[in-house]
Amino acid sequence: MARRKKVYEGKAKILYEGPEPGTLVQYFKDDATAFNAEKKDVIDGKGVLNNRLSEFFMVGLGQIGVPTHFIKRLNMREQLIRAVEIIPLEIIVRNVAAGSLSTRLGIEEGTPLPRPIIEFCYKDDKLGDPLVAEEHIIAFGWATQQDLDDIVALALRVNDFLSGCMLAVGIKLVDFKIEVGRIWDNDFQRLILADEISPDSCRLWDIETGKKLDKDVFRRDLGSLTDAYTEVARRLGVLPTNS
Ligand code: C5P
Repeated sequence: MARRKKVYEGKAKILYEGPEPGTLVQYFKDDATAFNAEKKDVIDGKGVLNNRLSEFFMVGLGQIGVPTHFIKRLNMREQLIRAVEIIPLEIIVRNVAAGSLSTRLGIEEGTPLPRPIIEFCYKDDKLGDPLVAEEHIIAFGWATQQDLDDIVALALRVNDFLSGCMLAVGIKLVDFKIEVGRIWDNDFQRLILADEISPDSCRLWDIETGKKLDKDVFRRDLGSLTDAYTEVARRLGVLPTNS
C-alpha cells in the first residue's frame, strides 16, 4: 500500500491526508511531552487510550449538538476527521485552580473557582504558547470578536458535558484545553471542536482521594501514566479492545 501523505506532525499526533477531500486521518502517538517538549518519553499504549477516550468524548459532544471534527475511529490509533483551519489559540477552561494559574497568581492548587475561567494562549511552540488577551487576538487577526463569543459558548458547553461525564465516574474535571477550527459549508463559516480531548489535555482528580489521573502524573513523576489513563478509560467503560 502506498504511504499516506503526512500533512502535519505534532508532539502527540500525526495528521495524514484523508481518503476524501476535506478529511484527514489523525494518528495518536505514544509520545509524551511536557514543559514545551523539554521533558519527553514514550509511554506504551498512551496513543491507543487517547484515541478511544477522544472518540468517546467527541461522539458524546456530537450527540448533544456540539459540532466536532470527529467522523469515525478507523482503528486502535487512528480516527477520520474533518480537515479544519485551526484557530491558533489554545482555549483553556478552569473550574479549580491548578497548574499555571496557581503558579502565576499564587492561588493554592485545589481552590475551587467561583465560576469557570476561560483563558486563551497563542499557539506557538517557539514562544511557549503565551497567554494572550482578547485584545491581542482581535488586533492580530487570529479571530474576530464574533469568533471569540462563539468559542466561549462552545467551551462552556464542552465544560458542562465533560464535568458531568467525569462526575458520574467519581472524577473532578479541574481544567482542560481545547482547540477550535474553521470549516466552510457553502461559503458559510462555522467553528467546530478540533484536536483531541483526553487526559493529555485535561486535569482529572479522583473526587475521593484527589489522586491525579492525567498528564500531571508524567509532568510531576507521580507514577504510571498508562495506569492513570487506563483508570479513566475503565471508569468510563471505554477500555480499548484489539480493533
Ligand atoms: O499548564 P496549565 O495549567 O496552563 O494547563 C491548563 C490545562 O490545559 C491543563 O489541563 C493542561 O493539560 C492543558 N494544556 C494542554 N496543552 C497545552 C497547555 C495546557 O493540553 N499546551
